[in-house]
Amino acid sequence: MEKSLIVAVADNWAIGRKNALLWNLPGDMAYFRKNTTGCPVIMGYMTYLSLRGPLPKRHNIVISLFPWPDAPERITLASSLENAYEIAEKDCDGSEGAPSKCFVMGGAYTYKEAMAYSDTLYITHVHDVVEDADAFFPVIDPDIWEVSSRSEMQTDPVSGIQYEFVVYKRRAAEQ
Ligand SMILES: NC(=O)c1ccc[n+]([C@@H]2O[C@H](COP(=O)([O-])OP(=O)(O)OC[C@H]3O[C@@H](n4cnc5c(N)ncnc54)[C@H](OP(=O)(O)O)[C@@H]3O)[C@@H](O)[C@H]2O)c1
Repeated sequence: MEKSLIVAVADNWAIGRKNALLWNLPGDMAYFRKNTTGCPVIMGYMTYLSLRGPLPKRHNIVISLFPWPDAPERITLASSLENAYEIAEKDCDGSEGAPSKCFVMGGAYTYKEAMAYSDTLYITHVHDVVEDADAFFPVIDPDIWEVSSRSEMQTDPVSGIQYEFVVYKRRAAEQ
């Protein structure tokens, strides 16, 4: 199973404020949906709370240390990131039609931990600086990550905000 991570990040590495996203970019939402549909998605409890319920057509795996007796049926609770990957691995079992990757989809706490395990980063670089953000993504170290693909620059028709889709792969370890 390929361990992936997907996020929209400002130029100052901001990703959220008051447990909400910073932008409403339909083009980025479509990119997120296209990449993650059919795959297990792993998220921290705070990110789950920020959604309007489980994401459709994806196995939603939510990490929380606390028991959650009234958890919706369509989610699976995980006790740690490692446990979440174990659960996702069962979906990505190599059978016909099974997904080959899982996605960590936030938030700040969960991304920070997942960076050490991830093979691929799907980063939407949003060319904006958000000074009053309270959730940040770790700086991407070019010694560890290389750009595998970069889209053309996109422009949101309503806000005029520019953004691009960049996929990073972990560099092979030197012998
Ligand atoms: N820009 C983007 O693409 C994007 C995407 C997603 C989220 N976000 C933003 O990120 C912000 C939320 O980030 P956050 O850091 O506050 O929350 P988070 O990572 O979503 O959730 C943190 C919580 O998840 C649980 N958790 C995560 N990893 C765990 C582990 N290894 N062991 C045990 N529990 C674990 C804990 O919950 P318990 O306390 O219940 O144990 C922890 O308090 C929001 O502003 C959101 O909008 C942005």
